[in-house]
Amino acid sequence: MKLTILGGGGFRVPLVYGALLGDRGEGRVTQVVLHDLDAGRLSAVTRVLAEQAARGTDVPEVTATTDLDEALRGADFVFSAIRVGGLEGRANDERVALAQGVLGQETVGAGGIAYGLRTVPVAVDIARRVARLAPDAWVINFTNPAGLVTEAMSRHLGDRVIGICDSPVGLGRRIARVLGADPKEAWIDYVGLNHLGWVRGLHIAGRDELPRLLADPDLLGSFEEGKLFGTDWLQSLGAIPNEYLHYYYFNREAVRAYQQAEKTRGAFLRDQQAHFYEEMRAPDAQALAAWDRTRAEREATYMAENRETAGAGEREPDDLSGGYEKVALALMRAIARDERTTLILNVRNRTTLSVLDAEAVIEVPCLVDANGAHPVAVDPLPDHASGLVCAVKAVEREVLAAAESRSRATAVKAFALHPLVDSVNVARRLVEGYTAVHPGLDYLR
Ligand code: G6P
Ligand code: MN
Repeated sequence: MKLTILGGGGFRVPLVYGALLGDRGEGRVTQVVLHDLDAGRLSAVTRVLAEQAARGTDVPEVTATTDLDEALRGADFVFSAIRVGGLEGRANDERVALAQGVLGQETVGAGGIAYGLRTVPVAVDIARRVARLAPDAWVINFTNPAGLVTEAMSRHLGDRVIGICDSPVGLGRRIARVLGADPKEAWIDYVGLNHLGWVRGLHIAGRDELPRLLADPDLLGSFEEGKLFGTDWLQSLGAIPNEYLHYYYFNREAVRAYQQAEKTRGAFLRDQQAHFYEEMRAPDAQALAAWDRTRAEREATYMAENRETAGAGEREPDDLSGGYEKVALALMRAIARDERTTLILNVRNRTTLSVLDAEAVIEVPCLVDANGAHPVAVDPLPDHASGLVCAVKAVEREVLAAAESRSRATAVKAFALHPLVDSVNVARRLVEGYTAVHPGLDYLR
């Protein structure tokens, strides 16, 4: 089984390789091809993987290439985890938005639109190449903004591209834990778009246990989302939102905290990772130890500004490893070995949410088997949630249209229609600001 990882020089690749090393089953991945535009990053990551593999036997063979077509040919699975414009681009996404008084997060609001606008054309090119060179491959998209990018690719690959994110699983795991339940035994009633979903129920032995949690302020205030959103607000919603909804429900506070932060998240990660890749150039570098130290620091500071505005304190030790590689591996195993399972994934809506059309990519529990991911039927969202989902999906569609038509006016429309961008003038200035800093947006006319 051959797995190709696009963005193979990326910082989180060792997480994926670590998960592969733990898989001893029949039909497991035996060959990993790392593709990246940057040979230096490839060699840094290859060194970390070699140290990981040194502990094991019969480990997946790793090769690296900067030739995309060569990487894709013969792949059974393609993981796409690219970052167009790098972390410098992410820092610029934040800076330009914050200068206009709006959010510049990598997936939410203006920052997510800017990142989407420069990622979609690249993702579409990859999808076309996969369709041509590896038509039987399954593409697992980790590239953010994951819902939008998956939808862009699905126009060329249909249901053979599936988007993943670890935040819904993490959320489900936390809720199960506070309820004293085994997450493996829980059915999590979650739906929405990527980074824009809600847990409306958590069923154990056929009974919804979420009302018990919502009725108990102590329990509710004892985990990440309770601290982030406050128990009163969760009780008002009657649901537990994905942590990324903090950017909507507490937008002013989040924007202010990001404006006041010494460094934005993107700038912090840019500098942190530049240091890591620099360290890897030394011939005697302890690659795995340096990587692990850097990873731990990254995880500990995740959403630090949001937690600070909410007075939420430090992250729980159990929350520190997201489990993104576990979702990826579980998905790949289910497809490759027909190990039927249920995972929350980003797939085409079909008839799941009646407020969206069949092609809209949504995030929803899916039954997964050798035939791919099949979304399950879910209850409709309440109006406030449907409203947000429809508004944000409409924005995503404008981003896709702007990328296809290369239209600057359509890009302005995408920004202007976003619920977190409060003026058409701001949208115009955002497009000016972003096109000035991002070469990846030169295509807009
Ligand atoms: C969560 C999100 C991912 C995101 C990751 C890392 O797991 O679901 O989409 O890539 O956090 O965030 P960071 O700010 O550390 O890059
Ligand atoms: Mn995510």
